[in-house]
Amino acid sequence: MKKFLIINGPNLNMLGQREPEVYGTNTLEDIERFTNEKLAGSASTEWFQSNVEGEIVGRIQKAHSENYDALVINPGGYAHTSVAIHDALKILKIPVIEVHLSQVYKREEFRHTLLTAKAASAIMSGLGKHSYYLAIYSQLH
Ligand code: DQA
Repeated sequence: MKKFLIINGPNLNMLGQREPEVYGTNTLEDIERFTNEKLAGSASTEWFQSNVEGEIVGRIQKAHSENYDALVINPGGYAHTSVAIHDALKILKIPVIEVHLSQVYKREEFRHTLLTAKAASAIMSGLGKHSYYLAIYSQLH
């Protein structure tokens, strides 16, 4: 069975309470449950969330010596700023899919630069809670 690491960056632990008009009312735990239900045992997932850039870099580095088939990452606001996360992603030899719940190109200009996405094989933006499931599904079929 294929194994996926799913990393969520800052403020995604506040989903459900955070700007529901933008991000919806599901919590991150709800999205994790939804994703695993949709996968129905066809893939295994490990979920990691941190508000700290260095912890995200550390988790990506650790994944380099683990046997995941792909990484799905929502870097949150770090997507727009983090050279360090970009560089850590470049170390990985597995597909990296960057997801954003919201459609970032419809939002503020500062969200239009996706720095980390330059190290990703694919990006998805605006598909809400479906993002993680669809990213994983794309690697299964
Ligand atoms: C986000 C979009 C980012 O611009 C924002 O900073 C987030 C969430 C999204 O999932 O739509 O924290 O990554």
